[in-house]
Amino acid sequence: MTAMTGRPAAGENERRILQRDPAPHLFRPIDLRSITVKNRIMMSPMCQYSASDGLTDDWHFAHLAARAVGGAGIVCVEATHVEARGRITHGCVGLWNDAQRDRLARIAEFVAARGAVPAIQLAHAGRKGSVSRPWQGTKPLKPEEGAWEVIGPSALPHAPGHGVPRAVDRGLIAEVVDAFAAATRRAREAGFQVIELHSAHGYLLHEFLSPLSNRRDDEFGGSFANRTRLLLQTLDAVRSEWPSQLPLFVRLSITDWMPGGWDVADSIELCRLLKARGDVDVVDCSSGGIDPRQAPPLHPGYLVPFAETIRREAGIATAAVGLIGTPELAEEAIANRRADFVVLGRALLHDPYWPLHAAKALKAAAVPWPVQYERANIF
Ligand SMILES: Cc1cc2nc3c(=O)[nH]c(=O)nc-3n(C[C@H](O)[C@H](O)[C@H](O)COP(=O)(O)O)c2cc1C
Repeated sequence: MTAMTGRPAAGENERRILQRDPAPHLFRPIDLRSITVKNRIMMSPMCQYSASDGLTDDWHFAHLAARAVGGAGIVCVEATHVEARGRITHGCVGLWNDAQRDRLARIAEFVAARGAVPAIQLAHAGRKGSVSRPWQGTKPLKPEEGAWEVIGPSALPHAPGHGVPRAVDRGLIAEVVDAFAAATRRAREAGFQVIELHSAHGYLLHEFLSPLSNRRDDEFGGSFANRTRLLLQTLDAVRSEWPSQLPLFVRLSITDWMPGGWDVADSIELCRLLKARGDVDVVDCSSGGIDPRQAPPLHPGYLVPFAETIRREAGIATAAVGLIGTPELAEEAIANRRADFVVLGRALLHDPYWPLHAAKALKAAAVPWPVQYERANIF
């Protein structure tokens, strides 16, 4: 109110609307099957390359626990590989045995106790496996470094110098599908409440989708129906072990950013199919990874239009990822129904308390700090 006119000052109406509102859209809960997520912020799965024999340790616990304490609605464990051959590096997390499950259970329990939803991304690296850790150059491993044989839809390497994958036969395809089912069972036993199936970034399931990596001439290659067959069979296997009251996410690369590759029209068609099948709850809309020559137009929120397009065209809930760094950008995506979730990677590495800080910036009144840290909520 201005003293001179008694009328609201510029911006005051907007502030009043914000105050009347129960919460900014970013902090409104959402129901997915039987679970309620307290806000729309999901921590993106991020490999730490720090496991031994696929086992998580205190690093992974601290890394994920901190983001649960920091207020993320969903905390997702990094790409967790369903068989040893499906790892990217020797440091990748796995879920092919009970010891791995039991370590992960401790993380899931803590995340849930903090009021966040524990999620896990199940993955198979396919032909992009058997490389060194990023800080060692992501180079193809040599035999003396413990290289292993990688698999893929066709005998085409990811890039020059990378291992030529063994083109999987039907028997091996069935083994991989079974491995996804077994990992799903263990994820359930460990107490996770969301599974994200990794079908993006040039890893095995995406390799089958993309005509650039899939040159098969059997029922798993060629037509759209054939290239999507492995993903759909894997979804069937995962759903058979995953309770119907728990949600399932799929991460897709909406485009390969390459001529002749998988593209937005393919993603729309696939997501319409997923919607009709009813087994997938949220499509996490990422991009790229199949060909190192890709050139995505990077800028803040550059993938939000994909989440919006898939949501509108396929009528399925979506998650937007990619260079979302500010509360305003995140709020805009949710408020304008461009996505149902924002998925934050590097912003949460930079600041584990990003959600608590965003709540303050957006004036979300009812977002509690951990009681242990309440005295720090003064800035
Ligand atoms: C350190 C690191 C590890 C990553 N590991 C994974 C992974 O395990 N699975 C995955 O789907 N994406 C992975 N990504 C990609 C992120 O999940 C995310 O999609 C990407 O970083 C873009 O989001 P951002 O701009 O918010 O970081 C990783 C990214 C980073 C920075």
